[in-house]
Amino acid sequence: MLFTACSLISVSAGAQSAILEGERFHPTTGEHGMVATSHYLASQIAHDVMENGGNAVDAAVTAGFALAVAQPRSGNIGGGGFMLISDENSGDVVAIDYREKAPAAATETMFQNADGEVVPERSRFTHNAAGVPGTVAGLSLALERYGTLTLADALAPAIKLADDGFIIPPRFAEGLEQSQDRLKQWDSTRKVFYKPDGSLYHAGERFRQPELAATLRRIAELGPREFYEGETAQLIADEMAAHGGLMSAEDLAAYHPSIREPVHGRYRGYDVYAMSPPSSGGAHIVQILNILEGYDIHAMGFNSARTIHLMSEAMKRAYADRAEYLGDTDFVDVPLEGIVSKDYANELRDGIDLERATPSQEIAAGDPLPYESNETTHFSIADDSGLAVSNTYTLNFSYGSGIVVDGAGFLLNNEMDDFSAKTGTPNAYGLIGGEANRIEPEKRMLSSMTPTIVQKDGKNFLVTGSPGGSRIITTTLQVVMNVIDHGMNIQSAVSAPRIHHQWLPDEIRVEDGISPDTLALLEAMGHTVSQQDAMGAAQSIRIEDDGTFTGGADPRRSTSSALGL
Ligand code: GLY
Repeated sequence: MLFTACSLISVSAGAQSAILEGERFHPTTGEHGMVATSHYLASQIAHDVMENGGNAVDAAVTAGFALAVAQPRSGNIGGGGFMLISDENSGDVVAIDYREKAPAAATETMFQNADGEVVPERSRFTHNAAGVPGTVAGLSLALERYGTLTLADALAPAIKLADDGFIIPPRFAEGLEQSQDRLKQWDSTRKVFYKPDGSLYHAGERFRQPELAATLRRIAELGPREFYEGETAQLIADEMAAHGGLMSAEDLAAYHPSIREPVHGRYRGYDVYAMSPPSSGGAHIVQILNILEGYDIHAMGFNSARTIHLMSEAMKRAYADRAEYLGDTDFVDVPLEGIVSKDYANELRDGIDLERATPSQEIAAGDPLPYESNETTHFSIADDSGLAVSNTYTLNFSYGSGIVVDGAGFLLNNEMDDFSAKTGTPNAYGLIGGEANRIEPEKRMLSSMTPTIVQKDGKNFLVTGSPGGSRIITTTLQVVMNVIDHGMNIQSAVSAPRIHHQWLPDEIRVEDGISPDTLALLEAMGHTVSQQDAMGAAQSIRIEDDGTFTGGADPRRSTSSALGL
């Protein structure tokens, strides 16, 4: 069930230029705007907002709240994320940072036992796994500054969806089944995600969330501070107090999102804007592009062994820097200017052998990074007033900590696991404890989320981003490269097979669809290749020279949907 709404019959002449005969994948087209999200219900809701005169920010905020209801494994009000907004009229590109923060009582060693060993369970599946949620404040700030709707209007479709319920699609039912051990553990979570008789919901059944509807209604009536200072805040504080969680009513009252300058880079004449710290995404997508700019990637060909070799070598070097330098710039100095400089890229490129893989241990000493968790969600929205929105937000794992706030109906994130659990030492899962990302009170944990907007001659051109933990950066990178280097339409760019290298483990992870001959050539160059599951879900938009909006829904999620206006 992949909804790409590709209507060849009704498209305009301009739109037809974007769906050329002879291509294997065809984007959705629109004359006035485009919405691409991971859930068809959210896409339809956001589409309707713009059809009724709302702008791209109105649609994005409405979609963000709708996803919290329709896709609670990653859509959320109990988590956080980043939103990039580009206004081509003013030339401004801003980043709203609504990443979660550590509670004031958090300590560097809070996830270690008495012997100083990391206990991963604590940072993942307990009340202390949750950072102070940022989504309600972040989406509300975006709406207030750049939208035209009231918060109550933006929440109305989500409230209706939670009250009336929706028919469960197969992906939703599969998610509940796969996560049942976790969702069963807490009474408050069982009450939401299991039927009253204790059995699992199945595809085709209706799923209602009355407590979540009541929470969203309180926020609609009283404003975003209700979440942080009202009854909802009290329910969170009570949930924490009942289970030994550190997050307090004061932590919630102290939470505010930040407006940041995105990271900016130039790639082959295009302006690339992506998320700044506390995300590592923008720094490293620009760093990797800078390294690759020195090669004729187009001539080397899409996913040829030479191209994959060079991409992997660039990725390794960037991820080695990520482990060392990246953290929340409100707390630590990050050498951002250097990381994204062309000079540094030239220096790194000089160290790349065109024929041979550099072993990761020779790039920098370190211990393996795990593949970070998968369940984040990204959406891209653009309108014909010149606004484009790229938003990635998350609970961290699928269903976050698995803990629903009793009486409030929403899941808490387990984003504290994105901090280094122990400085200087890998945790039980091999995660390097970078000093820059150590736990500190009120600090934001390092992220890989990479909402990205590319401009061409000052006009919005590409709006993209992805879930996928540490693979977010490389997934987003490949959408950008597929369009700029390989001239793909947006659906082809999103659907094409992906690769990933994150320095450690020292292997190129590849999706299905890259030929065995190519993989053998890579192995002959000294690479280890590991064929694994699909990576990312890059719901993306490309805006053609004639103003046509083209949307690419990622086939890696069965509920993905791009809808044009
Ligand atoms: N929790 C995944 C990320 O922020 O990168």
